[in-house]
Amino acid sequence: MVYLNTTMGVYILTNTAKYEPAINENSISFDSYEKMAEYYFRNIDTKPFNAYYERPATLSLLPEVKGKRVLDAGCAAGWYSDWLLKHGASVIAVDFSPNMIEMTKRRIGNNAAIIRADLNDPLSFIEDQSVDIILSSLTLHYVKNWEITMGEFGRILKPLGNLIFSVHHPFMDFISFKRENYFLTELLNDEWETPKGNVTVQFYRRPLNTIISSVIDAGFIIERLLEPMPTKKFKELEPQVYEKLTNKPHFLFIRAVKN
Ligand SMILES: C[S@@+](CC[C@H](N)C(=O)[O-])C[C@H]1O[C@@H](n2cnc3c(N)ncnc32)[C@H](O)[C@@H]1O
Repeated sequence: MVYLNTTMGVYILTNTAKYEPAINENSISFDSYEKMAEYYFRNIDTKPFNAYYERPATLSLLPEVKGKRVLDAGCAAGWYSDWLLKHGASVIAVDFSPNMIEMTKRRIGNNAAIIRADLNDPLSFIEDQSVDIILSSLTLHYVKNWEITMGEFGRILKPLGNLIFSVHHPFMDFISFKRENYFLTELLNDEWETPKGNVTVQFYRRPLNTIISSVIDAGFIIERLLEPMPTKKFKELEPQVYEKLTNKPHFLFIRAVKN
């Protein structure tokens, strides 16, 4: 393969062969996200869990992004990529779903490097120490081997670069899925209702210690850990779920810095 170095710190393939990530048994929920891409594009801006619970927390952890090179790891329909561009960052957006990649392109056009890749694999198209910030919202619980992913995040981040991510809260999954052994990392099936019918979404539940250790073992220092409350707007829209979220954590948020 021949790569061309771009100003974004991304190597773009120059030959005619399309870069195709190897979708295999590690690429869980691939078909589910392929199916949901259009639905995601149409609904993600205002879905209460995203707009009034996840995003305020993630945005509160972001440092100044103006002039920074940011990787949006698991960009889905491009909400964060769009926000980052509007706030002056240059963006590399990555997702393994071709349909999601199309949705990101539909949202932000050619204003970012939008690349189809599987986070289970090395991100060899991104140069060492070329990225200031990695933002990964609600994606890493689909990734099996965090050693590879965190290692790659450490490789591409500049020294003192930030990693900000949100994942399912380990206690939420342990309780909601009525698991027996908290200390296991296990693959679970969830059912999501969409206008196209129910979609099965698989993800990995990991104990808190595994989440934290994977980050630290990859050479990061954890600066912040959030278990946020939903916002007032969430309460207006979904008062019952709001009450639930003020009693039980749903997502976990971490900001780490490369050591
Ligand atoms: C819940 S969505 C992310 C939401 C998005 N960050 C946002 O806030 O709008 C999860 C995304 O991760 C992508 N994804 C899941 N596993 C992946 C993997 N192994 N490699 C790359 N992308 C993955 C899915 O295709 C989907 O677009």
